[in-house]
Amino acid sequence: MFRKMTEANITIEAPAEEKVSSKLPVFYNPVMKINRDISVLLLKAIDNKDMQICDLLAGTGIRSIRFLAELDKKIKSITINDHNEQATELIKKNIEANKEKLDHDAEINITNQEASTLLLQSTGFDYIDIDPFGTPNPFLDAAIRRLARDGILAVTATDTSALAGTFPKVCMRRYWAVPDRGHLKHEVGLRILVRKVQLVAAQYEKALVPIFSYSKEHYLRVFFRCSKGKSAVDEIVKRHGMLNKAGPLWLGRLWDQDIAERMYLLVEKLGYGTDGKFLRTIRDESRIDVVGFHDIHALCKRNKLEVPAFGPVFDAIRAEGYPLSRTHFSDHGVRSRISEDDLIEIVQSVANRH
Ligand SMILES: C[S@@+](CC[C@H](N)C(=O)[O-])C[C@H]1O[C@@H](n2cnc3c(N)ncnc32)[C@H](O)[C@@H]1O
Repeated sequence: MFRKMTEANITIEAPAEEKVSSKLPVFYNPVMKINRDISVLLLKAIDNKDMQICDLLAGTGIRSIRFLAELDKKIKSITINDHNEQATELIKKNIEANKEKLDHDAEINITNQEASTLLLQSTGFDYIDIDPFGTPNPFLDAAIRRLARDGILAVTATDTSALAGTFPKVCMRRYWAVPDRGHLKHEVGLRILVRKVQLVAAQYEKALVPIFSYSKEHYLRVFFRCSKGKSAVDEIVKRHGMLNKAGPLWLGRLWDQDIAERMYLLVEKLGYGTDGKFLRTIRDESRIDVVGFHDIHALCKRNKLEVPAFGPVFDAIRAEGYPLSRTHFSDHGVRSRISEDDLIEIVQSVANRH
């Protein structure tokens, strides 16, 4: 029923079934390695030390085991929780099997509780990771209440069909906003998720600022840093608004530039396989403070233009004085303040040159 799986130098026991689903006796998805890689990189990239970590929905415990193996003495204590008893038994086994590789100074607590109950009975944490099946909604309130000042909240949402516009009514019910179905659907979904989490936090006078966000495969992920105080919250809420017909959503930055830079440098150094290009693109787009991006394919289709080579288009945008980057949301995207009309002119002039 279980077999050995290796991820980033750690070997654990995980379900033997090939098909990944929430019906597995204990949940493990190898495709989410990059989600765990990015969590490790983010915790390495920030200055927080002596952290009290809560891996709220831990499955096999792989995320926590990697934190304990890779975070070089940054952890004071780690709570590894799952309400599935089989999961907590497996976590104990997986910790034991890897104990030589783990931080010996960190206090490890393996718990078998309902997530919100665990949080509310705790004294709080500096890092809380919410990695659920589907929406993070059921866990937001308790997690935010127990998040320390300067703490980090990590939120995954796998209900992308709601956030990215396939089911607008579900998005309205769960996230209190109208999604987008066009080329911006994933960025809009991420910004809708950000605002929802921020509104839950606002009730407790906590300001949650996104420091790293992305969309990948079937999920959206955001890391927030928490500060306390009425005026910080007021500043957050001021930056909620509409983007065309979508929203309300977060119109502020999705990344802290320095953290995105540090994470990219770290991934290059540590070599986590293919993550380098993904993190480089995010590092680049974190430098362009623009909400949304142009999708050159979509623009050409709408305007019945031939799709040009991107290189000359990017050169021409730069020559007009607009900073730009690619975007991790789309292979055909360009993040830049240039207007659509000016971009159309550039696309046409590049096409005429050939
Ligand atoms: C997507 S999996 C977590 C995967 C894991 N974080 C990883 O990186 O491999 C979600 C987990 O949440 C647990 N879970 C779901 N609802 C819960 C709740 N209310 N309280 C505690 N655990 C819960 C499930 O048993 C499952 O193991």
